[in-house]
Amino acid sequence: MKTILVTGGAGYIGSHTVVELLNAGYEVVIVDNLVNSNLAVLGRIETICGKRPSFVNADVRDGAALAEVFSEYDIDAVIHFAGLKAVGESVEQPLRYYENNVYGSLALSQAMADAGVFKLVFSSSATVYGPDAAVPYEETMALGQPSSPYGASKAMAERVLADLCVSDSRWSIVALRYFNPIGAHASGLIGEDPQGIPNNLMPFIARVAVGKLAELAVFGDDYDTPDGTCLRDYLHVVDLAEGHCKSLLALATPGLHAFNLGAGHGVSVLDMVKAFEAVTGQSVPYKIAPRRSGDLPAFWANADKAKAELDWVAARSLEEMMADTWRWQSGNPDGYAS
Ligand code: NAD
Ligand code: WQD
Repeated sequence: MKTILVTGGAGYIGSHTVVELLNAGYEVVIVDNLVNSNLAVLGRIETICGKRPSFVNADVRDGAALAEVFSEYDIDAVIHFAGLKAVGESVEQPLRYYENNVYGSLALSQAMADAGVFKLVFSSSATVYGPDAAVPYEETMALGQPSSPYGASKAMAERVLADLCVSDSRWSIVALRYFNPIGAHASGLIGEDPQGIPNNLMPFIARVAVGKLAELAVFGDDYDTPDGTCLRDYLHVVDLAEGHCKSLLALATPGLHAFNLGAGHGVSVLDMVKAFEAVTGQSVPYKIAPRRSGDLPAFWANADKAKAELDWVAARSLEEMMADTWRWQSGNPDGYAS
């Protein structure tokens, strides 16, 4: 049986991926410092899967702690989610972001090499294409100049990982460039649990619907898009989690392999609000607000490569994304603290 080390496995995408890995028969060891997650997720995962992942409370920047993990467990491959992800915060605290996301990836890679583990799946982002890329984004496009330290940290980490593959042919690394993951596990037991006021659209809508926030601010309705609001490529987090399981198979081939994981089309902010209201029957009051600095009008994935090479598509509908978000939010109005 194969054992996968999942850094950041207590977080939003990580926890959903741990569920899919356990259900597929993998052993899972999570390393997470809980900076943006809650230990309660482990019991929820156990309820869903009937199995509990191993858990180590450690920071990926701590080489000694990682060395201990690699000596205690016989790790076959690593999925590296651990990192900070708030774009606005990264503008205010660039050093913290580069240290966590770039140095954290370096320290992890070093610990892997020391332990003789050369298979890695890395959480990258559509933001690595930068603001000037033509849509839809394709993996053949060069990495761009992301406008935030968060985005730059992901592009830098990808460059380092590409250099590692050039330096030593034992490395096989998959960089998964996520578009906009939303939704929750169909059980309603695990989901996205942002601290404080959410930065992202879907959790904000869910908090308005559950009565925790008064109204949504729609950031700009004067973009050059069909209804004037921005278009994004939303995909169900369980589809994304399945993509990670499938990408483990691509680790059989040495080198760096980048894949877009997205649905392949854009949905506007107002259409997201309408879809949520139609599926859940809840009303989401909103007002039109000024544009948010740094937002791009529209981007979505060309996800043909993931289909051809990983046999992966974002199969779940927008309606499922909305229904599952609402099941999680209404059943856990205060997230894992509920
Ligand atoms: P999340 O914050 O829910 O999960 C990240 C996890 O990593 C958390 O449990 C956190 O406690 C942990 N962590 C952070 N820094 C750590 C460190 N130094 N050592 C150990 N653990 C650490 O975020 P998420 O949405 O699940 O995102 C997972 C990954 O995917 C991140 O790398 C993120 O940048 C990337 N990503 C996310 C999105 C998105 O929209 N959610 C999109 C593209 C890429
Ligand atoms: C979606 C749309 C907003 C909140 C970010 C990161 C990206 C990736 C995913 C990690 C935009 C609008 C939002 C609100 C709104 N993360 N919006 N009111 O900005 O596409 O991507 O998360 O890699 O790197 O940049 O996602 O959910 O913040 O915004 O009108 O309160 O919703 O303007 O058009 P975004 P988002």
